[in-house]
Amino acid sequence: MSRPKLRAGIIGLGVGKAHARGYRGSEDAELVAVCDMNAQRLNESADEWGVEARFTDYDEMFRKAKLDIVSVCLPNALHAEATIAGLKSGVHVICEKPMAVTVDEAATMVETARRAQRHLMVSYNYRYRADAQWINRVVQSGRLGKIYHAHIAWHRETGIPGWGVFGSKKLSGGGALIDLGVHILDLALWMMNFPQVLTVSAQTRSLFGPEGRKTWGRRPGRIGQDEFNVDDGGTAFMRLAGGASLAMEVTWAEHTQPKEDSFRIELQGTEGTAILHVRHYSSEDTIRLYTEIEGEAVTVIPVIRPEGAQGHEALVKDLVARIRQGLEPSTTGQQGLLGVTLLDAIYRSSEQGAEVRLG
Ligand SMILES: NC(=O)c1ccc[n+]([C@@H]2O[C@H](COP(=O)([O-])OP(=O)(O)OC[C@H]3O[C@@H](n4cnc5c(N)ncnc54)[C@H](O)[C@@H]3O)[C@@H](O)[C@H]2O)c1
Repeated sequence: MSRPKLRAGIIGLGVGKAHARGYRGSEDAELVAVCDMNAQRLNESADEWGVEARFTDYDEMFRKAKLDIVSVCLPNALHAEATIAGLKSGVHVICEKPMAVTVDEAATMVETARRAQRHLMVSYNYRYRADAQWINRVVQSGRLGKIYHAHIAWHRETGIPGWGVFGSKKLSGGGALIDLGVHILDLALWMMNFPQVLTVSAQTRSLFGPEGRKTWGRRPGRIGQDEFNVDDGGTAFMRLAGGASLAMEVTWAEHTQPKEDSFRIELQGTEGTAILHVRHYSSEDTIRLYTEIEGEAVTVIPVIRPEGAQGHEALVKDLVARIRQGLEPSTTGQQGLLGVTLLDAIYRSSEQGAEVRLG
């Protein structure tokens, strides 16, 4: 007899729609309940997916919907509260990134999951790109030798989110660095097998957002005076265990190639350098690998053919399947806590104008 599917719910139906594709495409789960305080958004999505159980209050959803797993896709400042409520009600949680806005909150989430013996997973969906997974396999195979430096970046020309609460420090915990930086930091550290980060030195800035300039989907000029008290760009340098280092640049907005929105992970090793450069979320022509063969410099341009689900859809399917099979999830609460810890160090370093040493 086949085992019953996991009963899944989603809280927050912005990027939550991408989680829905994962649950609805999974053989191991069934999307049975959705929650959003915006009733119109709630009903539109629930109608489209044929989901009967609809809630505007997630505590009520946890009491009534008998869930096994939930995706928390709320604004950053609400992640901890909703995740902890879910874990305490006996539900596994996939939490959107960044997992929380403070280190204390993230640590409490991890501890609550441990006590409740439920899985807490974080939505690091870029690990589920076929090109990122290929580079990860190349690094793990040892072909690049010892990785001694990572240079990572995310650049946007006109990319300050113009929806939601991304410009609010109180509700989002930070701006470009916490929004985009957390993804590329996770990708690089995952590919490097999570070396210990010893120190963080950073400088953040807020130049375009406070003036209402360069908001996503609008023209680069001035567009209004919405609340904006977070960073719209910054730079960080990290010393890693074993003498390695990481340099990072992130912008939501800058003067560069019009409409630019690209991220880049460059891993430099003693036997080769691998570069993942994703432009406008495309999967085409994203990798270069530089090495030497028989004494000559060689450039490798692999052709990656993504198969099946990618990104959020693949992440949700994989995490659900792992829970069903009793396996450890591949993106853990501990890794979410690490991301929050590094972002906290970045913001502290910038505020203090000094290097921050991590314990
Ligand atoms: N992994 C990724 O690539 C990715 C992409 C986009 C967003 N995100 C993350 O997802 C989260 C949400 O971002 P978004 O772009 O979907 O934002 P959004 O504003 O589009 O959606 C958030 C939704 O939450 C609802 N909501 C707010 N407070 C609520 C409450 N108390 N109870 C019920 N519903 C409530 C809002 O009505 C809204 O529909 C953020 O943490 C963001 O960082 C991750």
